[in-house]
Amino acid sequence: MLLNETSTPLSFASADPHSPWATYIAQVDRVAPYLGHLSKWIDTLKRPKRVLIVDVPIEMDDGSVRHFEGYRVQHNLSRGPGKGGIRFHPDVTLDEVMALSAWMTIKTAGVGLPFGGAKGGVRVDPSQLSVKELERMTRRYTSEIGLIIGPQRDIPAPDVNTNAQVMAWMMDTYSMNTGATATGVVTGKPIHLGGSLGRVKATGRGVFVTGREAARRINLPLEGARVAVQGFGNVGSVAAQLFAEAGTRIVAVQDHSGTIVNPAGLDALKLGEHVARHGGVRGFEAAEPADSDAFWDVECDILIPAALEGQIDSARAQRIKARLVLEGANGPTLPEGDDVLQERGILVVPDVICNAGGVTVSYFEWVQDFSSFFWTEEEINVRLDKIMTDSLRYIWQTADKHRITLRTATFAVACERILSAREERGLYP
Ligand SMILES: NC(=O)c1ccc[n+]([C@@H]2O[C@H](COP(=O)([O-])OP(=O)(O)OC[C@H]3O[C@@H](n4cnc5c(N)ncnc54)[C@H](O)[C@@H]3O)[C@@H](O)[C@H]2O)c1
Repeated sequence: MLLNETSTPLSFASADPHSPWATYIAQVDRVAPYLGHLSKWIDTLKRPKRVLIVDVPIEMDDGSVRHFEGYRVQHNLSRGPGKGGIRFHPDVTLDEVMALSAWMTIKTAGVGLPFGGAKGGVRVDPSQLSVKELERMTRRYTSEIGLIIGPQRDIPAPDVNTNAQVMAWMMDTYSMNTGATATGVVTGKPIHLGGSLGRVKATGRGVFVTGREAARRINLPLEGARVAVQGFGNVGSVAAQLFAEAGTRIVAVQDHSGTIVNPAGLDALKLGEHVARHGGVRGFEAAEPADSDAFWDVECDILIPAALEGQIDSARAQRIKARLVLEGANGPTLPEGDDVLQERGILVVPDVICNAGGVTVSYFEWVQDFSSFFWTEEEINVRLDKIMTDSLRYIWQTADKHRITLRTATFAVACERILSAREERGLYP
């Protein structure tokens, strides 16, 4: 539960100690000892700057009217405009959106992007809507949050169940309402509407870059290293293909359809084609099917959870054989699993740095939109590689200096940057 200065519970925070917001607050509390004089500002991080709850009424195709609840939370804007995705999901809650917005604050600061953190969502099951209903809902939601978003104020992007088409509708709605085409109001747009080359693969590429650097630092050669991947969607498939190109062997892949193993290494490109044709990894000929629980016992050097949150609990953390865990997904390791991995000497590159490649190329998209000058994919990949490598190096130095995990070090680096900005700007009025 979040308490304000008079110890009164803030009404929008969940009382559940395991809620995402409660987890975030615990993570912030853990870095307080490393913030020195800046810790006097730490309450800035423990409450969102701005929370907007909107009613989203739409006319359904059958003529009836339905109302959906939508949110946009701007957690912190000390270092720049808000940045963070929009999620359409029936389980979206304000508590979850608050936590996701706060993790965006940490992520953008951790890689040094000139953004704050924000997140949005609508509590809806989009699979139950027609395309026209989805468009009407997206446009009405965009109009409602139009009060606080904008290219200089807060820039949404895709997240769970939202894509380039949803971003195109958002950009068009905002532009219609303001009377001028504003491509920079959202990122993750289609290429011909101001989207960026390299954006689709950026998160998986960032997982590879941080993994490559971490492996080098722990003297784990990529040539011949065994990699197991959970999730073969946008993030997992790109990471797997880049690791395979670097000489590793992809020995196990698990997705919603099943688990496949091949100790000699499977062809990640061919597996991608199989998934595109059949919707999942199950039935891939050049590998053996395996029991889903056996995935956690696979002999491997690098494990990439790139599917769901909450996958690595303490029991699974005891079984993992890898030396290196790369968190492609958001929140795949539970705090108790994290403790076990640390005790066992297994290095975890945490989500807040490992999967920050997506928001980094979103930043490139925003910059390109402003200048109306577009970069080649090679330029984008080179710049992404440098930002991720430099960020991890500084986080690593911080971890060594304080003898803390990379997760706590990422929070320490990010919180120091955010609170320094807070202090230098000063309190208004
Ligand atoms: N796409 C991005 O740019 C991005 C950026 C940052 C973080 N992430 C995070 O990465 C994770 C994956 O995102 P994505 O964009 O690749 O999603 P996606 O929908 O493209 O892929 C998800 C994958 O997870 C698998 N999966 C679903 N249920 C599963 C289960 N029960 N067991 C095993 N596998 C299961 C699916 O089969 C699929 O392969 C999410 O946590 C997301 O929040 C994504």
